Amino acid sequence: MTQEQGIAALKAGDFTAAISHFEAAAKADPGNGAIRYDLAQALRHGGREGDAIIQATNALARDPQHNPAARLLTYLLSYLRLRNPGSIDPVGLAAAFTFINVDHQILATTALSYLKQCTGLGDALYLGKTSGWDAAVRWLLSSKGKTVLRDPLLRTTLSAAANNDIDIERLLTALRKTLLMAPSHEALRKAHILEFATVLVRQSEINEYVFAVSGEEQQRLDELFVNPKGIAEGSRAASESLLLKALYTPLWSLLGEHANDTEQWTVSPRKWGDFINAHLDERRRIAEAAQGVECLGSIADDVSQNVARLYEQNPYPRWLSLHAPSVSARRHSLADYFSEKELAFMEAPYRVLIAGAGTGQQAVDAALGYGTGAALTAIDLSLASLAYANRMAALFDADNVRFVQCDILNANLLDGDFDVIESIGVLHHMDDPWAGWKALIEKLRPGGLMKIGLYSRAARATIASLRTDIQSKALGDDEQVIRNYRQGIIDEDEAGKGGFLLQSADFFSLSNFRDLMFHVSEQHVSIPEIASFMTDNDLSFHGFQMPLDIPEGYPEGDSLLDLERWHAFEDTHPDSFKGMYVFWCCKT
Ligand SMILES: C[S@@+](CC[C@H](N)C(=O)[O-])C[C@H]1O[C@@H](n2cnc3c(N)ncnc32)[C@H](O)[C@@H]1O
Repeated sequence: MTQEQGIAALKAGDFTAAISHFEAAAKADPGNGAIRYDLAQALRHGGREGDAIIQATNALARDPQHNPAARLLTYLLSYLRLRNPGSIDPVGLAAAFTFINVDHQILATTALSYLKQCTGLGDALYLGKTSGWDAAVRWLLSSKGKTVLRDPLLRTTLSAAANNDIDIERLLTALRKTLLMAPSHEALRKAHILEFATVLVRQSEINEYVFAVSGEEQQRLDELFVNPKGIAEGSRAASESLLLKALYTPLWSLLGEHANDTEQWTVSPRKWGDFINAHLDERRRIAEAAQGVECLGSIADDVSQNVARLYEQNPYPRWLSLHAPSVSARRHSLADYFSEKELAFMEAPYRVLIAGAGTGQQAVDAALGYGTGAALTAIDLSLASLAYANRMAALFDADNVRFVQCDILNANLLDGDFDVIESIGVLHHMDDPWAGWKALIEKLRPGGLMKIGLYSRAARATIASLRTDIQSKALGDDEQVIRNYRQGIIDEDEAGKGGFLLQSADFFSLSNFRDLMFHVSEQHVSIPEIASFMTDNDLSFHGFQMPLDIPEGYPEGDSLLDLERWHAFEDTHPDSFKGMYVFWCCKT
């Protein structure tokens, strides 16, 4: 009865009454996840978002299949950081990671701060900071550290998202080294350590082996021999050597031609075997998905060729989950920028182009958000990126998007015009971003909508100066160079010139960090340049996508579309668009 009363109060907008009814219902039926979810919704609408987060984890702890609770939890965490994560239910938080339609990276931030504050992981980190990371690892591998290495939330988090905590990275880097250097793989003989080492292999795969590798480790790795025959014959020593090497290098590359065997590997211990089979299976699925990518024109431009080479080797970003939008989401958000009349075309079937789709996160999000009324074409230079994108589109049942390997400079080869074109974080990697933008305008029908993302010269100034340092030292951009450069930043900590990068989500995986600091081709633009290009090319400006942390005082109301005012604002707040400028415009 009280739950129904709560629902009625929620519908009527009486959130205080709804909260009391749901609290009473939860007391009467403490194991019921649905009631906790209703309570979380009432708390959220009543302005108590922190409590709503806690109740969403309670709902999931009682009903791990409750997808709406996982979506609500992730949505709230996307803009709110809990001051006291100690109140969340770790079982519920871990359950949220089982859904791919919520952003695991957002959950990871809360999970790691919970683990640091409320579990033995905090003790290990404290020991690391006070007595050194080797001491912390000894503690972790002793009986005292058992509960940490067995912690289901820690294992789940590190298996689903890139770690984004610098002290945890220091601890895991030291742990990995100890496991590698231990005589005769002795640590791996304990089941919980071996299982955690498998988690660490997965974490390394997710962060693309971003942790620093010392000379000593490299020497040991060179001495370790991968013996696929021994592994297949059930040799435990051979399978342990593979595991240790897989902490540093992708499994498929270690197994060479054996990675293509379609037969399942029977490996001792079995859990490690399951991991190898899942890894190779996913690799095969991505290779199959490459077959579904079309190819149009040739890549002739020098810069396009260099950029293609970069992304063939390092598809970016390597996303694993997505806060999948609802079907009407795009139309709803476009209403902030365009009139009903300008959006009327969405009533009939329409066409969308995603230019520079990369690994498909933006394209899959768009395919789901525009819905089945839209037919999407997603182009990119990199086949490896598009293969990954195609695989992910299948995972999300986004079957209204086709992937085409095509240079933006060849966009004229695509059939017909588009009603909407999106190109985010792409044009600034071209030799001439304006020529790229023009090629896209040619493919937009009059009255069509365009979303563009470009690096801001003002916001990238500090990064540009670090990039100039890197280029003047002619360091190159191989993985070891990037790892060493990154480790230099970690060693200097917050006080160093690159200390601000430790706060960047892009710091914590190799391809993201490469994209941030070591890109082969990067240009920056200013608001006046954008304004004058739009005037010359019959585009009208419809507004910036507002960065979440934009400083107070930005142009609002009548000035919202005044680019001169925006330029003046950016002059005094140069970090405003530190991600990039992202804005909507319309072809007049
Ligand atoms: C930084 S990624 C951005 C991917 C995606 N838009 C996103 O936001 O996740 C840049 C992508 O642009 C692609 N790209 C760069 N120049 C291009 C060109 N001339 N034609 C097509 N794609 C291009 C690259 O291959 C790469 O995948």
